[in-house]
Amino acid sequence: MAHHILFLGFIALTFSLALASSPLQDFCVAKTNSPVLVNGLACEDPKLSQANDFFFAGLHKPGNTSNFLGSAVTPVFAAQLPGLNTLGISMVRIDYAPWGLISPHTHPRATEILTVVEGTIYAAFVTSNPDNRLIAKILQKGDVFVFPEGLIHFQRNVGYGCAVAIAALNSENPGVITIANSVFGSNGPIPAEVLTKAFQLDKTAVDYLQSKF
Ligand SMILES: *[C@@H]1O[C@H](CO)[C@@H](O)[C@H](O)[C@H]1NC(C)=O
Repeated sequence: MAHHILFLGFIALTFSLALASSPLQDFCVAKTNSPVLVNGLACEDPKLSQANDFFFAGLHKPGNTSNFLGSAVTPVFAAQLPGLNTLGISMVRIDYAPWGLISPHTHPRATEILTVVEGTIYAAFVTSNPDNRLIAKILQKGDVFVFPEGLIHFQRNVGYGCAVAIAALNSENPGVITIANSVFGSNGPIPAEVLTKAFQLDKTAVDYLQSKF
């Protein structure tokens, strides 16, 4: 009996999670100025929705890679394309200067699938504890690589010219946690005693890294 109740509870939970992850109407164009707080963005009146709410222009334009990493990400998330709201999908363009880097980061809410449209990229992710295995591949134009949800990943341009990639993510708001910025550049620094022990560094090294972010 107890087993049956547990099982029914499990079914109900699975069912409600499944519903929560798919939209319950044709679309929900984001109403960015809404005071209503929901899981995502509130919907505008669907009768008001126009083609431009489902449209984004400019992904043919290179991003500005004049920064210390030599890379640029042009996002097309719900914030840029309001019609993506609730649909669980989005895309980005990534530009890499020669030897440019997209530094180690994770997306807390999405798996990412990436294809190289120009150049040669070294792409990699690291599996979770306890193995922490580096899964890496050199990608040429037309190659596709996937970064599973939540795992730390990065890309580096290892060709001689500029490189370009297009990636898709299964969230309209995938989120980004850049490891270096979160650890050494948090707003309100993580206490040095925490970082010296966690990273097996002396305080000088920790102070130096914290001053960089
Ligand atoms: C690219 O970014 C750099 C650094 O922020 C800036 O000086 C430069 O004007 C930008 N170039 C373009 C074309 O926007």
